[in-house]
Amino acid sequence: MTVTIRPATAEDAAECGRIIHAAFAAIADQHNFPHDFPSAEVATGVASMLIGHPGFYGIVAQQDGRIVGSNFLDERSQIGGVGPITVDPAAQNQGVGRRLMEAVIERGRSRNLPGIRLVQDGYHNRSLCLYTTLGFVTREPLSVMQGRPLDTQLTGYTVRPATPQDIDACNAVCRRVHGFERSGEIADAIAQGSARVVEHLGRVAGYATEIGYFATAIAETNDGLKALIAAAPNFAGPGFLLPTRNHDVFQWCLGRGMRLVKQQTLMTMGLYNEPQGAYLPSILY
Ligand SMILES: CC(C)(COP(=O)(O)OP(=O)(O)OC[C@H]1O[C@@H](n2cnc3c(N)ncnc32)[C@H](O)[C@@H]1OP(=O)(O)O)[C@@H](O)C(=O)NCCC(=O)NCCS
Repeated sequence: MTVTIRPATAEDAAECGRIIHAAFAAIADQHNFPHDFPSAEVATGVASMLIGHPGFYGIVAQQDGRIVGSNFLDERSQIGGVGPITVDPAAQNQGVGRRLMEAVIERGRSRNLPGIRLVQDGYHNRSLCLYTTLGFVTREPLSVMQGRPLDTQLTGYTVRPATPQDIDACNAVCRRVHGFERSGEIADAIAQGSARVVEHLGRVAGYATEIGYFATAIAETNDGLKALIAAAPNFAGPGFLLPTRNHDVFQWCLGRGMRLVKQQTLMTMGLYNEPQGAYLPSILY
Protein backbone atom coordinates (compact mmCIF):
# COMPACT_ATOMS: atom_id res chain seq x y z
CA MET A 1 0.00 0.00 0.00
CA THR A 2 1.23 3.51 -0.81
CA VAL A 3 2.16 5.70 2.11
CA THR A 4 2.53 9.44 1.63
CA ILE A 5 4.12 11.87 4.07
CA ARG A 6 2.91 15.47 4.27
CA PRO A 7 3.14 18.40 6.72
CA ALA A 8 0.58 18.26 9.56
CA THR A 9 -2.18 20.89 9.65
CA ALA A 10 -4.43 22.11 12.46
CA GLU A 11 -7.28 19.91 11.12
CA ASP A 12 -5.13 16.79 11.69
CA ALA A 13 -4.77 17.34 15.45
CA ALA A 14 -7.75 15.23 16.59
CA GLU A 15 -6.81 12.19 14.49
CA CYS A 16 -3.12 12.52 15.45
CA GLY A 17 -4.20 12.75 19.10
CA ARG A 18 -6.34 9.63 18.82
CA ILE A 19 -3.42 7.69 17.31
CA ILE A 20 -0.81 9.07 19.76
CA HIS A 21 -2.95 7.94 22.69
CA ALA A 22 -3.86 4.54 21.15
CA ALA A 23 -0.29 3.68 20.06
CA PHE A 24 1.35 4.52 23.39
CA ALA A 25 -1.46 2.85 25.37
CA ALA A 26 -1.23 -0.36 23.29
CA ILE A 27 2.51 -0.85 23.81
CA ALA A 28 2.34 0.15 27.50
CA ASP A 29 -0.53 -2.30 28.14
CA GLN A 30 1.43 -5.11 26.48
CA HIS A 31 4.18 -4.58 29.05
CA ASN A 32 1.95 -3.59 31.98
CA PHE A 33 3.33 -0.05 32.26
CA PRO A 34 1.36 3.17 32.94
CA HIS A 35 0.16 5.19 29.93
CA ASP A 36 2.22 8.16 28.70
CA PHE A 37 -0.96 10.05 27.73
CA PRO A 38 -3.98 9.61 30.02
CA SER A 39 -6.56 10.19 27.25
CA ALA A 40 -7.02 10.94 23.55
CA GLU A 41 -8.10 14.47 24.56
CA VAL A 42 -4.79 15.16 26.33
CA ALA A 43 -2.85 13.73 23.34
CA THR A 44 -4.93 15.90 20.97
CA GLY A 45 -4.04 18.96 23.06
CA VAL A 46 -0.33 18.10 22.74
CA ALA A 47 -0.66 17.45 18.97
CA SER A 48 -2.53 20.72 18.54
CA MET A 49 0.16 22.64 20.46
CA LEU A 50 3.00 21.04 18.46
CA ILE A 51 1.29 21.62 15.09
CA GLY A 52 0.60 25.26 15.97
CA HIS A 53 4.07 26.02 17.40
CA PRO A 54 6.41 27.63 14.83
CA GLY A 55 9.41 25.92 16.47
CA PHE A 56 8.14 22.39 15.75
CA TYR A 57 7.99 20.58 12.41
CA GLY A 58 5.05 18.16 12.22
CA ILE A 59 4.26 15.51 9.61
CA VAL A 60 1.56 12.88 9.09
CA ALA A 61 1.63 9.61 7.16
CA GLN A 62 -1.39 8.85 5.01
CA GLN A 63 -2.55 5.56 3.54
CA ASP A 64 -5.62 5.39 1.28
CA GLY A 65 -6.52 8.95 2.31
CA ARG A 66 -6.46 8.08 6.02
CA ILE A 67 -3.95 9.34 8.60
CA VAL A 68 -2.02 6.36 10.00
CA GLY A 69 0.71 8.11 11.98
CA SER A 70 2.57 11.30 12.83
CA ASN A 71 5.97 12.54 13.92
CA PHE A 72 7.44 15.83 15.15
CA LEU A 73 10.83 17.54 15.24
CA ASP A 74 11.59 20.15 17.89
CA GLU A 75 13.55 22.84 16.04
CA ARG A 76 13.64 25.42 18.84
CA SER A 77 17.32 24.86 19.63
CA GLN A 78 20.56 23.91 17.91
CA ILE A 79 19.97 20.17 18.36
CA GLY A 80 16.68 18.76 17.02
CA GLY A 81 14.44 16.58 19.21
CA VAL A 82 12.35 13.82 17.61
CA GLY A 83 8.90 12.84 18.82
CA PRO A 84 6.36 11.87 19.69
CA ILE A 85 6.31 9.40 16.79
CA THR A 86 3.32 7.08 16.61
CA VAL A 87 1.72 4.74 14.09
CA ASP A 88 -1.89 3.53 14.38
CA PRO A 89 -1.69 0.09 16.06
CA ALA A 90 -3.63 -1.34 13.06
CA ALA A 91 -0.92 -0.09 10.66
CA GLN A 92 2.23 -0.90 12.66
CA ASN A 93 5.07 -3.19 11.52
CA GLN A 94 4.59 -2.29 7.85
CA GLY A 95 7.29 0.33 7.42
CA VAL A 96 5.26 3.47 8.23
CA GLY A 97 7.37 4.30 11.30
CA ARG A 98 10.56 4.06 9.24
CA ARG A 99 9.13 6.51 6.66
CA LEU A 100 8.14 8.97 9.41
CA MET A 101 11.64 8.76 10.92
CA GLU A 102 13.42 9.16 7.58
CA ALA A 103 11.36 12.29 6.91
CA VAL A 104 12.42 14.07 10.13
CA ILE A 105 16.06 12.98 9.68
CA GLU A 106 15.97 14.50 6.19
CA ARG A 107 14.37 17.64 7.61
CA GLY A 108 17.21 17.96 10.13
CA ARG A 109 19.78 17.55 7.34
CA SER A 110 18.08 20.16 5.16
CA ARG A 111 18.26 22.64 8.05
CA ASN A 112 21.92 21.78 8.69
CA LEU A 113 21.24 20.78 12.30
CA PRO A 114 24.48 19.46 13.87
CA GLY A 115 22.52 16.62 15.45
CA ILE A 116 19.13 15.21 16.37
CA ARG A 117 18.16 13.18 19.42
CA LEU A 118 15.33 11.16 20.91
CA VAL A 119 14.33 9.18 23.97
CA GLN A 120 13.05 5.63 23.58
CA ASP A 121 10.98 3.44 25.95
CA GLY A 122 13.27 0.73 27.28
CA TYR A 123 10.62 -1.99 26.97
CA HIS A 124 9.93 -1.26 23.28
CA ASN A 125 12.26 -3.58 21.30
CA ARG A 126 10.85 -2.49 17.95
CA SER A 127 11.58 1.22 18.35
CA LEU A 128 15.09 0.52 19.71
CA CYS A 129 15.92 -1.61 16.64
CA LEU A 130 14.24 0.81 14.21
CA TYR A 131 16.21 3.79 15.54
CA THR A 132 19.46 1.81 15.66
CA THR A 133 19.16 0.69 12.02
CA LEU A 134 18.44 4.32 11.06
CA GLY A 135 21.77 5.33 12.64
CA PHE A 136 20.84 6.55 16.14
CA VAL A 137 23.47 5.66 18.75
CA THR A 138 22.50 4.54 22.27
CA ARG A 139 24.08 7.01 24.72
CA GLU A 140 22.49 6.79 28.12
CA PRO A 141 20.10 4.63 30.14
CA LEU A 142 17.47 6.85 31.80
CA SER A 143 15.32 6.22 34.87
CA VAL A 144 11.90 7.91 34.96
CA MET A 145 11.38 8.99 38.59
CA GLN A 146 8.15 9.95 40.30
CA GLY A 147 7.18 10.65 43.91
CA ARG A 148 6.09 13.15 46.49
CA PRO A 149 7.70 16.56 45.82
CA LEU A 150 10.26 17.58 48.43
CA ASP A 151 9.32 21.27 47.97
CA THR A 152 12.36 22.49 49.89
CA GLN A 153 15.51 24.61 49.41
CA LEU A 154 18.90 23.00 49.96
CA THR A 155 21.48 24.81 52.08
CA GLY A 156 23.79 26.99 49.99
CA TYR A 157 21.54 26.89 46.92
CA THR A 158 18.69 29.27 46.08
CA VAL A 159 16.11 28.18 43.53
CA ARG A 160 13.94 30.99 42.13
CA PRO A 161 11.71 31.62 39.09
CA ALA A 162 13.71 32.38 35.92
CA THR A 163 13.21 35.67 34.07
CA PRO A 164 14.14 36.71 30.51
CA GLN A 165 17.27 38.37 32.03
CA ASP A 166 18.52 34.88 33.02
CA ILE A 167 18.50 33.45 29.48
CA ASP A 168 22.15 34.31 28.73
CA ALA A 169 23.33 32.76 32.00
CA CYS A 170 21.19 29.64 31.36
CA ASN A 171 22.63 29.31 27.85
CA ALA A 172 26.14 29.62 29.28
CA VAL A 173 25.50 26.74 31.71
CA CYS A 174 24.05 24.63 28.89
CA ARG A 175 27.08 25.34 26.69
CA ARG A 176 29.45 24.33 29.50
CA VAL A 177 27.60 21.07 30.18
CA HIS A 178 26.34 20.01 26.72
CA GLY A 179 28.42 22.07 24.28
CA PHE A 180 25.35 23.76 22.74
CA GLU A 181 22.40 26.00 23.75
CA ARG A 182 18.74 25.16 24.29
CA SER A 183 17.57 28.77 24.20
CA GLY A 184 14.19 28.09 22.53
CA GLU A 185 13.09 25.80 25.32
CA ILE A 186 14.15 28.08 28.16
CA ALA A 187 12.41 31.06 26.52
CA ASP A 188 9.16 29.05 26.16
CA ALA A 189 9.36 27.86 29.77
CA ILE A 190 9.95 31.39 31.10
CA ALA A 191 6.88 32.57 29.13
CA GLN A 192 4.85 29.70 30.64
CA GLY A 193 6.10 30.53 34.15
CA SER A 194 7.58 27.08 34.84
CA ALA A 195 11.33 27.83 34.48
CA ARG A 196 13.59 28.11 37.52
CA VAL A 197 17.25 28.87 38.06
CA VAL A 198 19.48 27.70 40.87
CA GLU A 199 21.97 30.21 42.28
CA HIS A 200 25.12 29.18 44.11
CA LEU A 201 27.78 31.56 45.44
CA GLY A 202 25.92 34.48 43.88
CA ARG A 203 25.59 33.26 40.31
CA VAL A 204 23.38 31.03 38.14
CA ALA A 205 24.70 27.46 38.43
CA GLY A 206 21.86 25.67 36.66
CA TYR A 207 18.27 25.84 35.48
CA ALA A 208 15.18 23.73 34.89
CA THR A 209 12.40 24.40 32.38
CA GLU A 210 10.34 22.39 34.93
CA ILE A 211 11.04 19.09 36.67
CA GLY A 212 9.04 16.61 34.61
CA TYR A 213 8.61 14.47 31.54
CA PHE A 214 8.50 17.25 28.94
CA ALA A 215 11.15 19.39 30.66
CA THR A 216 14.91 19.58 30.91
CA ALA A 217 17.26 20.57 33.75
CA ILE A 218 20.97 21.36 33.57
CA ALA A 219 23.42 22.16 36.37
CA GLU A 220 27.16 22.46 36.75
CA THR A 221 27.17 19.98 39.64
CA ASN A 222 25.04 17.23 41.15
CA ASP A 223 24.32 19.45 44.17
CA GLY A 224 22.86 22.11 41.86
CA LEU A 225 20.68 19.48 40.17
CA LYS A 226 19.53 18.12 43.53
CA ALA A 227 18.59 21.68 44.57
CA LEU A 228 16.43 22.06 41.44
CA ILE A 229 14.71 18.69 42.05
CA ALA A 230 14.27 19.43 45.77
CA ALA A 231 12.60 22.80 45.09
CA ALA A 232 10.13 21.47 42.49
CA PRO A 233 6.46 21.84 43.52
CA ASN A 234 5.63 18.68 41.51
CA PHE A 235 7.12 16.25 38.99
CA ALA A 236 5.03 16.88 35.89
CA GLY A 237 3.67 14.02 33.77
CA PRO A 238 4.81 10.42 34.30
CA GLY A 239 8.02 11.63 36.02
CA PHE A 240 11.43 13.20 35.36
CA LEU A 241 14.19 11.49 33.37
CA LEU A 242 17.40 10.86 35.32
CA PRO A 243 20.54 9.44 33.68
CA THR A 244 20.88 6.16 35.59
CA ARG A 245 24.70 6.32 35.52
CA ASN A 246 24.45 9.41 37.71
CA HIS A 247 24.66 7.11 40.72
CA ASP A 248 24.91 9.94 43.27
CA VAL A 249 21.64 11.61 42.24
CA PHE A 250 19.84 8.30 41.57
CA GLN A 251 20.69 7.08 45.06
CA TRP A 252 19.72 10.48 46.53
CA CYS A 253 16.28 10.30 44.82
CA LEU A 254 15.64 6.76 46.03
CA GLY A 255 16.72 7.77 49.52
CA ARG A 256 14.01 10.45 49.49
CA GLY A 257 11.22 8.01 48.72
CA MET A 258 11.01 8.49 44.96
CA ARG A 259 10.02 5.49 42.85
CA LEU A 260 11.33 4.23 39.55
CA VAL A 261 8.55 4.24 36.91
CA LYS A 262 10.39 2.79 33.90
CA GLN A 263 13.64 2.70 31.95
CA GLN A 264 14.28 4.72 28.81
CA THR A 265 17.18 5.24 26.42
CA LEU A 266 18.74 8.47 25.15
CA MET A 267 19.78 8.06 21.50
CA THR A 268 21.62 10.55 19.31
CA MET A 269 22.56 11.10 15.66
CA GLY A 270 25.31 13.58 14.73
CA LEU A 271 27.00 15.87 17.26
CA TYR A 272 27.34 14.36 20.73
CA ASN A 273 29.64 15.35 23.58
CA GLU A 274 29.68 13.45 26.85
CA PRO A 275 27.96 15.98 29.16
CA GLN A 276 30.35 17.81 31.51
CA GLY A 277 27.94 18.27 34.38
CA ALA A 278 24.58 17.13 35.69
CA TYR A 279 21.34 17.08 33.70
CA LEU A 280 17.85 15.68 33.26
CA PRO A 281 16.86 15.23 29.60
CA SER A 282 13.28 15.84 28.48
CA ILE A 283 11.30 13.13 26.70
CA LEU A 284 12.70 14.64 23.46
CA TYR A 285 16.38 14.74 24.61
C1 LIG B 1 7.63 2.90 17.20
C2 LIG B 1 6.66 2.92 16.04
C3 LIG B 1 6.40 4.34 15.64
C4 LIG B 1 7.30 2.15 14.88
O1 LIG B 1 6.43 2.20 13.76
P1 LIG B 1 6.18 0.90 12.83
O2 LIG B 1 5.47 1.38 11.62
O3 LIG B 1 5.52 -0.16 13.62
O4 LIG B 1 7.68 0.44 12.51
P2 LIG B 1 8.31 -0.07 11.15
O5 LIG B 1 7.47 -1.19 10.63
O6 LIG B 1 8.54 1.07 10.20
O7 LIG B 1 9.77 -0.53 11.61
C5 LIG B 1 9.97 -1.46 12.59
C6 LIG B 1 11.34 -2.05 12.39
O8 LIG B 1 11.76 -2.71 13.57
C7 LIG B 1 12.16 -4.03 13.25
N1 LIG B 1 11.91 -4.84 14.44
C8 LIG B 1 10.76 -4.96 15.12
N2 LIG B 1 10.95 -5.76 16.19
C9 LIG B 1 12.25 -6.12 16.19
C10 LIG B 1 13.06 -6.94 17.02
N3 LIG B 1 12.58 -7.51 18.12
N4 LIG B 1 14.38 -7.09 16.69
C11 LIG B 1 14.89 -6.51 15.59
N5 LIG B 1 14.17 -5.72 14.77
C12 LIG B 1 12.87 -5.53 15.06
C13 LIG B 1 11.28 -4.40 12.08
O9 LIG B 1 11.83 -5.47 11.37
C14 LIG B 1 11.35 -3.09 11.28
O10 LIG B 1 12.60 -2.98 10.63
P3 LIG B 1 12.73 -2.85 9.03
O11 LIG B 1 12.21 -1.49 8.69
O12 LIG B 1 14.20 -2.98 8.80
O13 LIG B 1 11.89 -3.97 8.48
C15 LIG B 1 5.33 2.20 16.41
O14 LIG B 1 5.61 0.91 16.81
C16 LIG B 1 4.53 2.88 17.50
O15 LIG B 1 3.72 3.77 17.25
N6 LIG B 1 4.73 2.45 18.78
C17 LIG B 1 3.99 2.96 19.91
C18 LIG B 1 4.40 4.36 20.28
C19 LIG B 1 5.89 4.45 20.52
O16 LIG B 1 6.45 3.67 21.27
N7 LIG B 1 6.54 5.43 19.91
C20 LIG B 1 7.94 5.60 19.99
C21 LIG B 1 8.35 6.27 21.25
S1 LIG B 1 10.06 6.10 21.45
